[in-house]
Amino acid sequence: MKPCVFVTRPILPGPLERLAAIAEVRVHEGEGLLSAAELRAQVTGIDALFCHLTDIVDEALLEAAGPQLRIVANYAVGYNNIDLDACRRRGVAATNTPGVLTESTADIAFALLLAVTRRLVEGDHMVRAGEFNGWAPQMLLGHEISGKTLGIIGCGRIGQAMARRARGFGLSLLYTQRKPLAGDLGRELGLEYVSLDELLEHSDFISLHCPLTPETHHLLGRTQLARMKREAILINTARGPVVDEAALVEFLQKKELGGAGFDVYEHEPQLSPGLAELDNVVLLPHIGSATVETRRRMGEMVVDNILAALQGRRPPNAL
Ligand code: GLV
Ligand code: GLV
Repeated sequence: MKPCVFVTRPILPGPLERLAAIAEVRVHEGEGLLSAAELRAQVTGIDALFCHLTDIVDEALLEAAGPQLRIVANYAVGYNNIDLDACRRRGVAATNTPGVLTESTADIAFALLLAVTRRLVEGDHMVRAGEFNGWAPQMLLGHEISGKTLGIIGCGRIGQAMARRARGFGLSLLYTQRKPLAGDLGRELGLEYVSLDELLEHSDFISLHCPLTPETHHLLGRTQLARMKREAILINTARGPVVDEAALVEFLQKKELGGAGFDVYEHEPQLSPGLAELDNVVLLPHIGSATVETRRRMGEMVVDNILAALQGRRPPNAL
């Protein structure tokens, strides 16, 4: 009997064909999310789960799947939706898609930085609303980014890709994470290692690129937001719960922060009350990795991981 793979949401066609050669592939074709109960009902007896960052993979789901489940393969680099300990206890491999979405996510972070500082979205709305009545010397004044300081929180692949972009735009760079980068990498990228507090106090722009873990949950809470410069702009393309979103809304409302560019939300897809009413924010619907090229590569990577597990090999991106 062929092994069975369940895919929780449809992906770009292509990668699944390689799986279909050796496995029965079932794709949930419906619009939107499966609830936890629907997901549990779908996974019974499967050998591999092809899941998305919107699927919670916990003890209950693994239990519902049963003992023949070999792999939970996440179509994302972030894997805070997966209970890794529960997977380990059951001998189920878990994998992610590192590296292939680095450039696309850094592009979105940089695009948000430019969009907020130069008020791109407000400008677009103005033109479409027929309110552009010709050039004016004080219309939509934003702020320059060159010569300013960008603080990068979490300097893995995506944080480093953000640093490379920022250097090209003439920004000075600070970063913080648990340990400084190894070897000469930090120096080569023009990055200075500082504490979180120093970064918060000295940065004009702050961009989050750390994973969501118990340690980074609300890494930026009220106390940290209060340390930031009043004009500072916060960019989040990592995970929503890294920021206390309700506190952020308050700081933005009181003009105790300059602005924000968000691609991810604490209670995604819900927004904290007040966030969408602010004019100093740009809000995107979690599209950091949403390019045709990246999503193709992510699909291939998930399939490589599943094929390895089904063939008894160690998946290349085992966590
Ligand atoms: C996207 O958010 C990812 O983690 O891949
Ligand atoms: C992404 O691939 C990262 O680890 O930053």
